[in-house]
Amino acid sequence: MDAIPRTTSGNLQTRICPVKSGFHSLNRTEMRLGIWSSQQERLRYMEFGYYNADCMDIMRELPDKFADLAIVDPPYGIKQGGDKNHTRGKLASATKYHTFDDSTPPGEAYFSELFRVSKNQIIFGANHFIDRLPIPSSCWIVWDKENGKSDFADCELAWTSFDKAVRKFAFRWQGMLQGDMKHKEKRIHPTQKPVALYKWILTNFAKEGDIILDTHVGSASSLIACEDMGFKYIGCEIDKVFYEESRKRLEEHTKQINFAAYLQEA
Ligand SMILES: C[S@@+](CC[C@H](N)C(=O)[O-])C[C@H]1O[C@@H](n2cnc3c(N)ncnc32)[C@H](O)[C@@H]1O
Repeated sequence: MDAIPRTTSGNLQTRICPVKSGFHSLNRTEMRLGIWSSQQERLRYMEFGYYNADCMDIMRELPDKFADLAIVDPPYGIKQGGDKNHTRGKLASATKYHTFDDSTPPGEAYFSELFRVSKNQIIFGANHFIDRLPIPSSCWIVWDKENGKSDFADCELAWTSFDKAVRKFAFRWQGMLQGDMKHKEKRIHPTQKPVALYKWILTNFAKEGDIILDTHVGSASSLIACEDMGFKYIGCEIDKVFYEESRKRLEEHTKQINFAAYLQEA
């Protein structure tokens, strides 16, 4: 574990570190061939940051319980549904967004790896594939999107591994209307979640110093929240177009926070 590059938390260095050295376009063939001769050697190649890769390839390289908290939002497998609530992927083709295949949720192998590499898990969309999760949970997260009378889902649900009561976060996310209109977020992904939601999750479910894993990054809202709050992370996005767009979003955001920190120090 000591071979993994560590960043010290709480200073400017932590914030710029992922952007300077943490964007990775891994050569998957090389990974599969196992260019590493030992576990120590392998861990030297594993860095915190954002990977343009299949999350299965990344998780395979992680030691057991490496991440303290996995916050994941995989495909829900609902594209076949008839109403608008069931067309997360189709929403994209109807608008300006690039699309992704939302028709199949991850299988047993994904969940088995996810539970192996992380201590706690928060899994969005789990109401659509509850049969794939190992145990019931007392603590679901309810995100109330304050959608008004639209025919989209009023709420999104996330299964958690925590032994707490159900928790609700209310934040409007309805077309042009957002919970925080002063800091309105640019939408770059068809199923983008607000940064505010991830910040609320980190505030309530993560501890200082935790390592966060997001296997399905999408727009990078989760990683922006991690950057803002000083959490180290590993993020994966398989799609090249989403990866490039969200990496740009993350980079621009990180430049802004670094500039603000620089002004404060000057
Ligand atoms: C539901 S979206 C995530 C949205 C994200 N929570 C956000 O706020 O933008 C799922 C994303 O996972 C990506 N994806 C699908 N399969 C993947 C895999 N095996 N590894 C990594 N990313 C994957 C898709 O391209 C898509 O961008």
